[in-house]
Amino acid sequence: MNPRARYELSINSNSGCADLMTMAERELSAFFSAVTQLFGSEQADLSADDWLHELSEIGSLPTSAREWRLITAKVLTQIPGGENASSPSTLFLTGASGFVGSAIVRELIDAGHQVLGLARSDAAAQSLVAAGAVVHRGSLEDLESLRSGAAAADGVIHTAFIHDFSNYGPAAEADRRAIETLGDALADSDRPLIVTSGTLLAQRQGPLATEEDAHNPNFPRKSEDAALALAAHVIRASVLRLPPSVHGNGDHGFVPHLISIAREKGVSAFIGDGLNRWPAVHRLDAAHLFRLILEKGSAGATYHGVADEGVPTREIAEAIGRGLNVPVVSKSPEAAADHFGWIARFFGIDGPASSALTQEQLGWRPVQPGIIADLNAEHYFEQAADAVPLHG
Ligand SMILES: NC(=O)c1ccc[n+]([C@@H]2O[C@H](COP(=O)([O-])OP(=O)(O)OC[C@H]3O[C@@H](n4cnc5c(N)ncnc54)[C@H](OP(=O)(O)O)[C@@H]3O)[C@@H](O)[C@H]2O)c1
Repeated sequence: MNPRARYELSINSNSGCADLMTMAERELSAFFSAVTQLFGSEQADLSADDWLHELSEIGSLPTSAREWRLITAKVLTQIPGGENASSPSTLFLTGASGFVGSAIVRELIDAGHQVLGLARSDAAAQSLVAAGAVVHRGSLEDLESLRSGAAAADGVIHTAFIHDFSNYGPAAEADRRAIETLGDALADSDRPLIVTSGTLLAQRQGPLATEEDAHNPNFPRKSEDAALALAAHVIRASVLRLPPSVHGNGDHGFVPHLISIAREKGVSAFIGDGLNRWPAVHRLDAAHLFRLILEKGSAGATYHGVADEGVPTREIAEAIGRGLNVPVVSKSPEAAADHFGWIARFFGIDGPASSALTQEQLGWRPVQPGIIADLNAEHYFEQAADAVPLHG
């Protein structure tokens, strides 16, 4: 009989508590996936038996994530070579249905972790189930849902954000409250919290923005302040700044918005001489970095998920012009707002950034295509022109 089925039978006969059973199923599922990943399915079957045996020795179902971990850790040590393997963890991920979050789900599950993903709609819940994550219903506005998600996890990654530029103040405030709530739930533990921010929010001091540059206090989004304030209270919080283009298949951020403007206007434009630069990263490289921070990041640290340090916006406009087969033109700074609308203030920024310290500290190496190579692939121009405004 399949060990999972055996397990379900034994749990069903032992407990009437739905919450404990859900926790038990999660634990066995995470353990089974991790052992399959590390040692193969045959060993996973054997180890599942050992795991059930350990559980029956205890006599009742553990009630905390920590007690479950102890069972898992004990069984891992019984596998030849397993003494060095780390126990699978349950990570609570906000924004799990998003462009970046869905790549993090894949990255974590492939590494043997269990993902508890926040979902505020049936569609998001379905996408999480399809990806192999466990659904945690709730929203940024429902602070109790954030608290309970974090309480059930070994660590938290916060990527959800309300990308509503017409109402940015409340969106930033919801983000700040969410970070404080997640942090409170992790208090008095060494469970990590990773908070997402943007490289354009750094106050650049040199030729490239670095991890050591402070957050620009004039920007309404306060993710970094909220996270670093938690770190000061001995919560293992850190920040990952992403560049203005996190690109890849399924992108619905700045670059698709620029494409839809070029499609609509019949020209692909840049501002002035187009030498102002944007950093960029592929979503899969970014997702890998989130995992590295989770596993090896330091409390209070700021990291940069930057692969392309600074691509001239003129080159981005040229790649869009090639993709759509439209002329590439310059717009003066005065005419930019009229041509580009709200995105003019971002596309005109010169915001090159480095990730040298992040790479040195975490051993992260971006390996995916850069933004221009990605734009040369057809997927950017097959997408519908219904880009959603994003971040700063
Ligand atoms: N993509 C980029 O180029 C880029 C660049 C720099 C920084 N960032 C930052 O990276 C993070 C992830 O960005 P992304 O591109 O993945 O964004 P995205 O694709 O727009 O996804 C946003 C996620 O947040 C969730 N969300 C929005 N409002 C919510 C609410 N009220 N309650 C609960 N969940 C809510 C969405 O859930 P639904 O699926 O239900 O809508 C979705 O899962 C954000 O913090 C963003 O600002 C992104």
